[in-house]
Amino acid sequence: MALSPEESFKRVISHAKEYGFVFQSSEIYDGLSAVYDYGQNGVLLKNNIKSFWWKSMVQLNENVVGLDSAIFMHPTVWKASGHVDAFNDPLIDNKDSKKRYRADVLLEDHAEKLRQKANKEVEKAAQRFGDSFDADLFRSTNPRVAGYLAKADEIMARFVAAMEEEDLEAVRQIILDENITCPVSGSANWTEVRQFNLMFATKMGSVAEGASDLYLRPETAQGIFVNFLNVFKTGRMKVPFGIAQIGKAFRNEIVARQFIFRMREFEQMEMQFFVKPGTEMEWYAHWKEARMRWHMALGFDARHYRFHDHDKLAHYANAAADIEFQFPFGFKEIEGIHSRTDFDLRRHEEFSGKKQQVFDPETQENYTPYVVETSIGLDRMFLSLLSLSIEEETLEDGSQRTVLRLPHALAPTQAAILPLMKKDGLPEFARSLHTDLKFDFQVAYDEKDAIGKRYRRHDAIGTPLCITVDHQSLEDGTVTLRDRDTMEQKRVHRDEVFDIVRTTASLEVLLKKI
Ligand code: GAP
Repeated sequence: MALSPEESFKRVISHAKEYGFVFQSSEIYDGLSAVYDYGQNGVLLKNNIKSFWWKSMVQLNENVVGLDSAIFMHPTVWKASGHVDAFNDPLIDNKDSKKRYRADVLLEDHAEKLRQKANKEVEKAAQRFGDSFDADLFRSTNPRVAGYLAKADEIMARFVAAMEEEDLEAVRQIILDENITCPVSGSANWTEVRQFNLMFATKMGSVAEGASDLYLRPETAQGIFVNFLNVFKTGRMKVPFGIAQIGKAFRNEIVARQFIFRMREFEQMEMQFFVKPGTEMEWYAHWKEARMRWHMALGFDARHYRFHDHDKLAHYANAAADIEFQFPFGFKEIEGIHSRTDFDLRRHEEFSGKKQQVFDPETQENYTPYVVETSIGLDRMFLSLLSLSIEEETLEDGSQRTVLRLPHALAPTQAAILPLMKKDGLPEFARSLHTDLKFDFQVAYDEKDAIGKRYRRHDAIGTPLCITVDHQSLEDGTVTLRDRDTMEQKRVHRDEVFDIVRTTASLEVLLKKI
C-alpha cells in the first residue's frame, strides 16, 4: 500500500538514523535543534555528492577553478554584501500555540495547497474523459480549476508587492484575509509580522584586547567574491570564468524544521561565474540548463524536478530561478541559479576601497564583471536522494526487503565482498579481492551473519554490488556477483570484477551522462 507523504517522510528519517546516515547532533543531551551529524554511511554518501558536484564543475570545465575560503571573514564583508541590513526573514507567531512561522512559508504553502487542489481536479477529469482529454484546455477553462490557480497567483503577487514595499502589516493582512490558521492550534490568532536577522554572531580575540564582532558566514559566496582578483591574477584567468567552492554556512533559522531540509549549520556548493556585462543572460540560460542536466544525470524521473522562476527578485539580481525538488512534503527549493549583476563586486569595491575590475583587451577599458551564481544545498541534495531511493519491496516469496536505490556511484559503498563462510580459505580469498578494489573504490568486507542477512543489510544502505566468495571460487577463481536492484546473480572471474565495478559504479559513469 502506498504511504502518505507524512509516512514516507517519517520512513526517510528513521531509515537515515537506523542505518547510520544522519544522527541528531548531541543526541545524548537530547539534541540541538536543527543541527545534525552525518554517520558512517551518511558521510560517505555526502562526500560522493560533493565529488560529483566538484568534478562536474572544476574537472569538466576548463574555465572553472576551485577555492576553499575561511568561514570567518572580516565583518565589513557582511555590511558590503547587505547581510547585516537585509538578511532577514518575516516572522509571525501564533498567540495560542506560541509557535513561530515564516510568513512567506505560510503563504507559499497555502498557495501550493490551492495548486494541488487544481491538480486533483485535473486528474479526476483526466480519468473521466480518457484519451481525448486536453489538460491545458481544462486548466484554463474549468472555472473551479482556473479559480484555484488564479487565487494562488493572486496571493503570491500580493505577497511580492507587500515585501517590495517593505509593508509587513500588508503581509499579515494576506494571512488574515486567507484565513490561514496555525497547524498546531488551528487558530488565526496571529501577532504582527517582524523581521529577524539570520546571522550568528561571535567574537574574535579576548575582551581585554578589544574583541571584534564576527559572523559565521551565512553563505560561502562572499568568500569567492573577496578572492575574485586573487584567483583572476594568480590563475591567469580570462573572463568568462568561474570559481567553485564547497563549505559550511550558518543561519539562525527561526523556523527550523523538516529534518535536514532547513538546518542552522549546513553545507553549500556554490559557483560564481564571472562574465562580461551584457552577456549575463546567455550565461544564466547556460547554467540553468547545465545544472538541470546534472540533476538529470542521476537517472531519476524528471517529474520530481522543476524550475521555479522568481517573481520577486532580490535587489541585486536581474534574473533568478530555483530548481525545486519534490520532497515528501512538497516541491521545495534545492538549488538557486541567480544572475547577480555586478552588485557584490561593486559593493566590495566601495567598502574596501580596492578596485574589483578587469581589463578588456577589445575595448581597452576596465570593467566590473557580472556574476551568474549556482548555489545548491548539499544537505538538501542528500535528503532528495534518500527520499527518492528508499523502497519497500515485496519479493516473490512474499518476504519484504528495504532497498536503497541510490545512483551506484553515490552509494556509500560501491561493493561488498562477502565470504560465504569464515573458514576453508574463503576469508583469505575474499580479503585479497578486497585489496584489489580498495585503492579505487569504497568496498566493504563483511563476514558476519548468514549470507541472506548480509544481502539485506547492503540493500538497505544501497550497496550496488555484492560479491560472494564460495568454495568454487577457490577451485576456478570465479565469484558470485549480485545486483542490488534486480537481485540477479551471475558468476564472473575475479579478474573481471575490477572492470565491472568501474563500469557500473564509478563517478566517471555519472559524469559522462551530464
Ligand atoms: N549564495 C546564495 C545563497 O546562499 P540561498 O538560496 O539562500 O542562496 C542556496 O541558498 C541553497 O542553500 C538553497 O537552495 C538551499 O539548498 C541551501 N540552503 C539554504 N538555507 C539552508 C538551510 N537553512 N538548511 C539547509 N540548506 C539550506
